[in-house]
Amino acid sequence: MAAFRTLDDVELAGRTALVRVDFNVPMEGGRITDATRITRAVPTIRRLLEGGAKVVLLSHFGRPKGERRAEMSLAPLVPELQAALGQDVPLRFADDCVGKAAEDAVAALPQGGVLLLENLRFHSGEEKNDPAFVDQLAKLGDLFVSDAFSAAHRAHGSVEGIAHRLPAVAGLLMQAELEALEKALEDPARPVAAIVGGAKVSTKLELLGNLVEKVQLLVIGGGMANTFLYAMGVDVGRSLCEREMASTVEEIVRKAREADCDIVLPTDAAVAGELKPNVSYDIMSIKSVPEDQMILDIGPRTAEHIALRIADCRTLVWNGPLGAFEVQPFDAGTTHVAQAAADLTRAGTVLSVAGGGDTVAALNHAGVLNDFSYVSTAGGAFLEWLEGKPLPGVQVLRRS
Ligand code: 3PG
Ligand code: MG
Repeated sequence: MAAFRTLDDVELAGRTALVRVDFNVPMEGGRITDATRITRAVPTIRRLLEGGAKVVLLSHFGRPKGERRAEMSLAPLVPELQAALGQDVPLRFADDCVGKAAEDAVAALPQGGVLLLENLRFHSGEEKNDPAFVDQLAKLGDLFVSDAFSAAHRAHGSVEGIAHRLPAVAGLLMQAELEALEKALEDPARPVAAIVGGAKVSTKLELLGNLVEKVQLLVIGGGMANTFLYAMGVDVGRSLCEREMASTVEEIVRKAREADCDIVLPTDAAVAGELKPNVSYDIMSIKSVPEDQMILDIGPRTAEHIALRIADCRTLVWNGPLGAFEVQPFDAGTTHVAQAAADLTRAGTVLSVAGGGDTVAALNHAGVLNDFSYVSTAGGAFLEWLEGKPLPGVQVLRRS
């Protein structure tokens, strides 16, 4: 039995389900640039409709801080949601998430219909988890379905508070996410590898501290690898490097040694004088970086070494790119390793889970987004999970 309550545990027919989704999608100039978070909500909505429930969708968008801000309305998402649901599903929008506008819209919702409520964060009670606001939300339905793992690190009204007012279960997306994460770190097939990249050690300290105790192989790339190299006495030139973090890095390395976790750092790199597309660059040993140059990607020897090392593992967790992948050719290292991980996953020898904003973009760029066992669209929530922190929006779904 799943450790969490799911849709299988509740009667759906005749109910009005309040479904917490995360439609905090990236937008540019009023247009959605990536609708993944909308399309991923559809299976839960369909399942509820097929089971005979009415569906009321709750989401935040941006950070309006308790004020009604036109540019943070969820109304512009309606056409994309309608397209994702299919034109035959009646979809309505209410321009407030609580109060008369919301209550009237729920009362008028036909069987088989879906209602999207306006941005929860237009009310300060949402982020404050204010009991009066939560009561107003809760009275709109009689079942709470949580399908927003990416907001589960927030102890907000629609994420945490409401689960104490209504029967609360995980939706299909939340369930898939929790099951994948469980297989990756809580009860994984060993050996387990983690690939951690990104710019700074300082933002991922707790994550590294947690991972060295859970994984047998820790691959470090991206800007943060420079700080590790620096701490080991390597001259990294003008590379991104947090010199003040050297002693913290030494502490992580010591902890890893005690826990029998093998840390892999770059041995060669793509090095250039500046970060811009198609700039002239050299591949060189990490030990020969000139003082006026920067490390911008792992080198091919390192990429191949990582590919070989992860092939010995059964589980892989990935967060953060290994180089400045947005700028060619410094995407090469990340892409090489991503493709190797995808091959291992397809061959069935490795279970691979990735997450975090940049990571999803990097895997997409490498063309392997659909080849990983699971890719989470969560940013902060995925990081907090890697840090080993209990997420408030997940805790409330646990079976007691
Ligand atoms: C996200 O995009 O990270 C989630 O929707 C959470 O948003 P927040 O960081 O504004 O709480
Ligand atoms: Mg965030």
